[in-house]
Amino acid sequence: MVAGLARLFRGTVIDSASRTELRVLTDAVIGVSGDGKVSFVEGGHTEPLSTESSLQLRDPESTALPLSDVEIVSLPPRGFLVPGLIDTHTHAPQIVNAGKGYDLQLLDWLEKYTFPCEERFSDAEYAKAVCTTAVRRTLQNGTTTCVYFGTIHTEAALTLGRTAAAHGQRAFVGKVNMDRNSPGNYCEETAESIRETERFVKLMLDDADSAGRHPAVPAPVPVITPRFVPTCSSELMRSLAEIAALHQLPIQTHVSENRGEIDWVHSLHPDESSYTGVYDAHGLLTSRTLLAHGVYLTAPERTLLAERGSTVSHCPTSNAMLRSGMLNVRRLLDYGVHVSLGTDVSGGASPSMLVAIRDALKISNMVSIAASTDDKPSPPLTFAETFWMATVGGAYSLGVAGLTGNFAAGSDFDALIIDPQVEAGPIDLFETDDELDAFQKWLQLGDDRNVAAVYVRGHKVL
Ligand code: GUN
Ligand code: FE
Repeated sequence: MVAGLARLFRGTVIDSASRTELRVLTDAVIGVSGDGKVSFVEGGHTEPLSTESSLQLRDPESTALPLSDVEIVSLPPRGFLVPGLIDTHTHAPQIVNAGKGYDLQLLDWLEKYTFPCEERFSDAEYAKAVCTTAVRRTLQNGTTTCVYFGTIHTEAALTLGRTAAAHGQRAFVGKVNMDRNSPGNYCEETAESIRETERFVKLMLDDADSAGRHPAVPAPVPVITPRFVPTCSSELMRSLAEIAALHQLPIQTHVSENRGEIDWVHSLHPDESSYTGVYDAHGLLTSRTLLAHGVYLTAPERTLLAERGSTVSHCPTSNAMLRSGMLNVRRLLDYGVHVSLGTDVSGGASPSMLVAIRDALKISNMVSIAASTDDKPSPPLTFAETFWMATVGGAYSLGVAGLTGNFAAGSDFDALIIDPQVEAGPIDLFETDDELDAFQKWLQLGDDRNVAAVYVRGHKVL
């Protein structure tokens, strides 16, 4: 509806037209209604727009629209508007460890650095401070939708959801479950883990309209979060699948990240044919299941994931830093498996989805070089594909495509104003012929200094 138009954004707009193609609109105008939705997007407006002028919309029901009550937002010179980025895998409590501890690989790294760091979330004040840091840092880097692991502590996971909501970030939050093969001071009894998950889900769902939430954002969504097979008993996994089914909740976990981990899973579940098969046997593979990593998935596992409609959250920075391995994303896509992108802090050191995009491109280049033969090319991912994974792909994996991820009319206006020319910033625009060049330079060189504004549901949250 045009009636509630609140803001017009004017300038270059870039989003994904499809999984492989960008849409670049120059001299574009985006109308955002009072309820934070995209009313229309039009390219090619070269005439001046001012509060005295009127705009003839192509909506057949509209007549010339007076703009006197509408805020017109002009983008900075050479600036552009992109959809908010979607991080489908990160660990908020681990942000304090980002940048250290990469001397070890996954299983030893968990034991020496990660579990002790997460255990500290039993302290509510500490947890609140760290959650605030994690939310601020991701939002500042342009992550408008974030899928978080918390810790095993229910209160801290609730705090994480409330913190994201208070800052205006769209959040999906999990209270972690682990009832075996975990340190004595960071492990749950099975019954307690199930009971606390039910309590967490109820409180998150009841909290939906609580005070203190930024007016921009929808309530944070609880995510069922079995950490990974080695730390979850069969009884626990089965019960978690039931809770997810009862409330139609998303599920997040880790799969097939590291060779030692995979061997361990086979020894724990010798009757199952694969790591992915263990999750499936416990009812945990749904169309709203996000599995981080998936580096060593076998052909039958790829087929199973495609059948279940589950998503692999690709975490290239983490896979490189922990020396886990190189995921062949192209092969997963060829099998029809859905792939999104995650930072996996602190397996990955950076909370920036731009870094995840860059690392996805580099790893894909390496995989392509290794996999290509004279008669069988293996094309690497393109920057348009990785940008799609960081936006629309993430939205799709969470069941919120059409709501966020691009500027389709009717979707929520979740957006970043990118200013590539900040003083002493990371980008120069020499040899930049057009908007696509500037966009590529931002993907490859940009950082939080280039994020001039962040909008969620039409509200400026940063
Ligand atoms: N597997 C189980 N837990 C974790 C974690 O915290 N980080 C990573 N990268 N892999 C995991
Ligand atoms: Fe992880």
